[in-house]
Amino acid sequence: MERNDICWCGSGKKYKKCHMFIDEKIALLEEQGHIVPTRDILKTPAQIEGIRKSAELNTAILDHVAKHIHAGMSTAEIDKLVYNYTTEHGGIPAPLGYDGFPKSVCTSLNNEICHGIPDENIILEDGDIINVDVSTILNGYFSDASRMFSIGEPSQRAKKIVQITEECVERGLAAAKPWGHLGDIADAINSYAKENGYSVVEDIGGHGIGLEFHEDPFVSYVIPKGSDMVLVPGMIFTIEPMINEGSPDFFVDEDNGWTVYTEDDGLSAQIEYMVLITENGAEVLTK
Ligand code: MF3
Ligand code: CO
Repeated sequence: MERNDICWCGSGKKYKKCHMFIDEKIALLEEQGHIVPTRDILKTPAQIEGIRKSAELNTAILDHVAKHIHAGMSTAEIDKLVYNYTTEHGGIPAPLGYDGFPKSVCTSLNNEICHGIPDENIILEDGDIINVDVSTILNGYFSDASRMFSIGEPSQRAKKIVQITEECVERGLAAAKPWGHLGDIADAINSYAKENGYSVVEDIGGHGIGLEFHEDPFVSYVIPKGSDMVLVPGMIFTIEPMINEGSPDFFVDEDNGWTVYTEDDGLSAQIEYMVLITENGAEVLTK
């Protein structure tokens, strides 16, 4: 691509006024041995616009859940809220049928780390903490975020893990800067979790997203600062650490093949932001 050609990203700008600087910087970092994103990981302005709309709907769905979640309801009712709101607004719930997942949303309670399946026999009780993980397809674009909800008055123990998890994600977000590394986010999260006596789940992590539900890169929260992929403007991925009270070990439900539980039966919390790397930092698209 020549300096005066129209940029490959479809912005309509000349290459020298658009991605030339970024491409050169990536090439240099690659020469120096860094892991760098391939071009398909960097979203174009048109794609970002589509993904942003999907993310806005995703946030509205989470707000809708926040408004209606209460003690005494089943997690199947949360699933219904998500399915109805999503489809009424022109979206498709991304989990539904994904790798055979049977419902529209993941609902993970207390000692469940993630991927809990909504069920009419699982009733929210006073004192529960629950992660509701909402993922949306709108006009072919994917978005993904999750929140923790406290039902009634949880124990101090439960409140603390939710609060520290929120602080972990905020610290991860603050560490997400262009030309930094994925490891900077991981280190900010892992060190803060450890300082507070918690552990971070390994092997399950975040992911690139936008044109598909799960894209490269895999986003670990247990790798060293300065390691793994360089962060480049236009990358979109999730920051979604799973924080455990005790051991980070887990097991998967043998019957349903999905629900992930803490090995030691301790509490677990997760919060997920979906972010866009910009020229100045990271912008939250949905949370
Ligand atoms: N929302 C989950 C994530 O953050 C994906 C769960 S896959 C599903 O990656 F099929 F369980 F929905
Ligand atoms: Co995700």
